[in-house]
Amino acid sequence: MKLSENITGVGHLGIPTADLAGSAAWYEQKLGFRKFYEKTVWNDGKLNVVFLELKDLVIELCEQAQAGRDMQMRGDGILDHFAIDAPDFENCCRRVEDQGLKYHASTPKGAVLYENIGPKGVRGANYVGPNQEVIELCHNCSVNYGYRTGLQGWSHLAVKVSDLQASVSFYEILGFTKVGEGYLDTPDGRLYIGFVDNHGFQLELIQMTGAGLQELKSRGAGHIDHIALNVKDAKEAFYEARKAGCRVSDLVLKELPFFEHGIRYFMILGPDGEKIEINQRLSW
Ligand SMILES: [Fe+2]
Ligand SMILES: [Fe+2]
Repeated sequence: MKLSENITGVGHLGIPTADLAGSAAWYEQKLGFRKFYEKTVWNDGKLNVVFLELKDLVIELCEQAQAGRDMQMRGDGILDHFAIDAPDFENCCRRVEDQGLKYHASTPKGAVLYENIGPKGVRGANYVGPNQEVIELCHNCSVNYGYRTGLQGWSHLAVKVSDLQASVSFYEILGFTKVGEGYLDTPDGRLYIGFVDNHGFQLELIQMTGAGLQELKSRGAGHIDHIALNVKDAKEAFYEARKAGCRVSDLVLKELPFFEHGIRYFMILGPDGEKIEINQRLSW
């Protein structure tokens, strides 16, 4: 089974934290997430995790015992920001601002209209999460949201890339298809953007240039650590990923006793070093 047939869509977004309880409460109280699982395991030291969901958007908050210093060193990463769909955009922004959320430096005045993304443009405002992660509220002007109001789960995950075509080709190996494009004019020059989709989950691949491209080279895993994709069979994916030429950063498949029967997983690296967890939830 090819990797593209094995992958069944998005699993979770992994965010490291030095304050698990505080972060989980933040997502629950300010954005309406629901905690549905928590566990402490031994994985290179003591690891506490909490899983939270907002419709189809699942966040894995990870608190690693000795990772305090590593946490402080982290900046914005290759996985730059994640975006939540906001049909009634102004209301959603007002509500999160009433909860005390502050604009991120990337949108210092709040809401921005990106008129050259998608057929009719996109409205977005970036806020700062409890671990300095960038959270965008996003309204796609081409989408008919019907009567839906309030935060709707996944809009997209933004990845800053150094070679858009190489990244599109890489994500095609994982079963993504290109569904849209656009551009953004910045002081650095024009940033070309491609959207790729896998079972309704979209990545916004942003081609960096100029100073932003130089800065990208210094980025690693940042405040957003990894994105997890679900597979039917992790053993087969582990073999197929190598065969397809993916950079697999684990020598062996790993297992953790999460959920009823455990998970089996491994990490691969995208073209710019972004971390992608390939994850099978075991069911026997
Ligand atoms: Fe994860
Ligand atoms: Fe975005």
